Parts: sequence; C-alpha cells; structure tokens
Amino acid sequence: MPLYQWGKSSLSLGSTHSCTGNRCDDLIKDAESADPARRRQAALDLAYCRNGKRVLPEIVLKERHVAVRETMFDSLLHLVDAAMVERLLPMLRSNDAMLRNGAIELFQQIPELFAPHVSGLLADDDSDVRIFTINVIQHLHHTMVPSWLLEVIRHDRHVNVVAAALNALADFARPNMVGDLLAVKKRFEDQPYLHFAVDTVMSRTKRGVAIDATGITDSEFESFRDLFYARTGILFKENKRYFVDKRLIDRIHKTGHQSFADYFRYVRLAESAHEFQILTNVMTVNETYFFRDDGHFKAMVHSMLDQIVANKRKGEMIRIWSVPSSTGEEPYSIALYLLEYWPKLSDWNVQIIASDINTEVLERCNKGIYSKHALRFVPQPLVRKYFAELANGEYQINLALRKSVNFFLGSILDAKYQADVQHVDIIFCRNLLIYFDDVSRKQAVETLYGLLNPGGFVLLGSMESMSRISSRFQIQKIDSSLVYQKGLV
Ligand SMILES: C[S@@+](CC[C@H](N)C(=O)[O-])C[C@H]1O[C@@H](n2cnc3c(N)ncnc32)[C@H](O)[C@@H]1O
Repeated sequence: MPLYQWGKSSLSLGSTHSCTGNRCDDLIKDAESADPARRRQAALDLAYCRNGKRVLPEIVLKERHVAVRETMFDSLLHLVDAAMVERLLPMLRSNDAMLRNGAIELFQQIPELFAPHVSGLLADDDSDVRIFTINVIQHLHHTMVPSWLLEVIRHDRHVNVVAAALNALADFARPNMVGDLLAVKKRFEDQPYLHFAVDTVMSRTKRGVAIDATGITDSEFESFRDLFYARTGILFKENKRYFVDKRLIDRIHKTGHQSFADYFRYVRLAESAHEFQILTNVMTVNETYFFRDDGHFKAMVHSMLDQIVANKRKGEMIRIWSVPSSTGEEPYSIALYLLEYWPKLSDWNVQIIASDINTEVLERCNKGIYSKHALRFVPQPLVRKYFAELANGEYQINLALRKSVNFFLGSILDAKYQADVQHVDIIFCRNLLIYFDDVSRKQAVETLYGLLNPGGFVLLGSMESMSRISSRFQIQKIDSSLVYQKGLV
C-alpha cells in the first residue's frame, strides 16, 4: 500500500503553543483584572496553559461579565477531564442561573465524562439538581438517556422532576413505555398537569407503534445481536435495545421488507454484504472531535516519540495508526500535533495510517470537512493555518494534510486487514473497546500487541483500561496520561 511519507516532506513545522513560568503568572493576574477584554483574553490563553485546569474552575465562579464567562466556559470545555467534572458538578446547585446554564451546556457536550455521575445526581436530595440533570441528559448523545428518564418517572416523588422527565421522554417515546406512563398517572392521580404530560408522551408512543409495525421480539433482537457481534465484535446489551430497534426498523422499511424475519434472512446472505455494511454504518457510534483527550497527543510529542526514536536508526520509519479513525479528527489531530509540536519531525519519516469499519466515516475522512464544533478545541491560529473556511461555515483541512493520512476500511478483529499495518510504533485505539465484550477486547488487544514494534505504545480511551484484558503491556504515566508500552525484548 503506498503510504504518504512524512518528515523530510514538504510539510512545514509550526511554533509550539505551550505556556510556562512568568507567562502563566501574568495570565492568572490578567484573569483577575478589572478590564473585561483582558480577562477574556486571559481566559482564551488559559485553555493552553498548564495552570488553566486549576485556575479556570475557580475564576469562572466570580465572573459576572456574560461574554467573558462564555469564553471561560469554552476554555473549560477545552480542558475538561474526569477530575474537573467533579469540581464543576456543584455548579448545578448554584443560585446563579447564568453559571448553572453554562455548566448545563458544558456537561451536554461531554457525554462520556458526565454519564458516570447521572445516577447519583438523579438520586440527589435537591429536586432542582435532579431537574437540572434532566436538562443535561435530554440533550446528551448517550444510549442510556431513555433508561435514565424511565427510572425518574418510575421512582421520583417530586411532581416537577417527573414533569421534566416526561417532557424529555417525549423524544424517546416507544410502545413498551406505555405501562410506565400509565403508572405515573396512577401515582399522581391529583396532578392534572402531569396527566397532560403523560398524554403527550403516549401520543408519541402511538406514532411509534405505526413505525414499529414490524415488531422486533426479544428473540429476534438476540439473533441480530449475535450476528452483529460475530461480524464486528460489537456487543449490544439490553440497554441499547432502543438504539438498535430504531435503526433496524428503519432499514427494514427502507429495503421494503415486511418483517424482521424477511429482512434478517436477506442480511445473512453473502450477496447482501452491502446491506450489512449499511447496518454497520448506522449501528456504530462515531462521536469524535479534534484534540479529544489531548493528554495523549501531548504525551506523544513530549515523550513517546523520543522513546521510540531512541531505539531506531536514522532514516527508519515511524508508523502511527489511528484505529478506529471515525470521521478523521483523531488521525488529523496526530498530524497537527506532529507538525506543530514535535521539533524532530524533520529528521524522521513518519507514516500515519487510519482505519475504521464504517465506510461512511471513511468517506468523510477523505473529504476532511468539519463543523466548527468538531474544531472547538483547536487553537484559532492552527485553524487558520491548516483549514479553509467554506461558504457554508464548515472547514476543510488542507490538501497536504488530507494526503498525509492513509485511510482504509477494516475491522480490528479481521485478520485479513492486518497485513497492511505491521510494525507500528504508536496505536491510538481509543473509544473502541467500550463497545466490545471481554472476548473481543482480548482478541483486539492481542492483535495490537502482535502488530506493535518492541517498545511501541497503545493508547486507550478515557473510559477504557487494559487491566482486565492483558498483562502484556507495561504502564507508563506521562504527565497525567496513562499509556501502555510493549516491552523492548
Ligand atoms: C467513538 S468512535 C472513536 C473514534 C476515535 N478513536 C476517538 O476516540 O475519538 C468509534 C469508532 O469505532 C468504529 N468501529 C467499531 N467497531 C470497529 C471494529 N471492529 N474495527 C474498527 N473500527 C470499529 C466505529 O465505526 C466508530 O467510528
């Protein structure tokens, strides 16, 4: 496979964007200044300062200027990690509506980091906190949302909380919720307002019945789940039922089948590989963005690459693999970090390869067109340097960068693709294993281990860990990130 060569290529190096010593202190002073413009600039710069994580959650509490506070929330979003979410959660208790709404909007954008707190918050003694949590989750792109909301309408005793959950549930209504909805009416016999909310959701479930005409039974769901698991390694648990049924029903209708049984027979045929690919495209979760969990990119340019080249001869290739790439934000972030923050790039040849099981996302990788939202953590100077703004407000990454990553289709569990990706030095395998069960996780990790060069690294997503999967790797902590290294011998 011809791969684009990096390093001594025509790609130019940029300046680094970190902040040290006195500059940090100045920023902290500016953040307290009386001048809103200075405070706003400081808030922007603190997003790229090592003290930002510590300072911003404190100063945002004191900020009264709307625009400055908005900027602070943007910068917080850039920096937020699991520990910071814990520090920010008390904002849901704030009497300051602007602060609370800022927090609600922030949490809505970090489903994976917020999800672990939802059950606790929905059990909070303060009914306002429960309502604000519902405000967050109803906009969260997370498959647990209908189950969380159902739990609220089943158990919460506070009429306003149940009303908020019912309003949110209207978007997720389906026929099997009818029993729970009727039970709400019974529990709150004397609350006509709630009855009205229940009726609204009920009317949506009836619309759902029409869509649901093909009716997927438990055993049909299980047959599909097993087939999909066998071919992709992705295991849908019962809590994903809503997500899966909705997509299956859509495909049954679009392919003109009358029942699940007809459709399932069709999907299993070897000649229907195209339909199975469409199913794969609609069933995979492709959430990603530029500079996601950027500690890993920093660890790459601050330490991992130096460790790797220490064991290479000049001129040897460094190979970095992003699997799964999703729509390309991760492999392009690797490229941007190398160009901007690894001073030794010009001395080495680097290949970046990237793969995914979903054909639609790969098409989008090749086009390299992204929304402003996907670029929210990329510093503006880099956006200006590497992206062109299109007439519709989206941004296209420049051609040299598009050519610098070689994208290909394949499942991490499929041996036939592995010949393309041997001798890899760094593998970004982030936010994939969460969709697998332990068997596919172990298989995937064994594959990665086999494809890595001695001394090479694997990076997993923030919700993933190697601990129950493999003891073959050595753990290294680089700054605040954990990375997994294959031994040198
Ligand atoms: C949530 S995205 C992760 C993207 C990126 N690594 C990140 O962390 O931002 C998960 C991706 O895994 C892909 N995927 C699922 N099963 C896969 C498999 N067996 N092999 C390769 N990619 C797979 C999906 O198509 C989806 O694009």
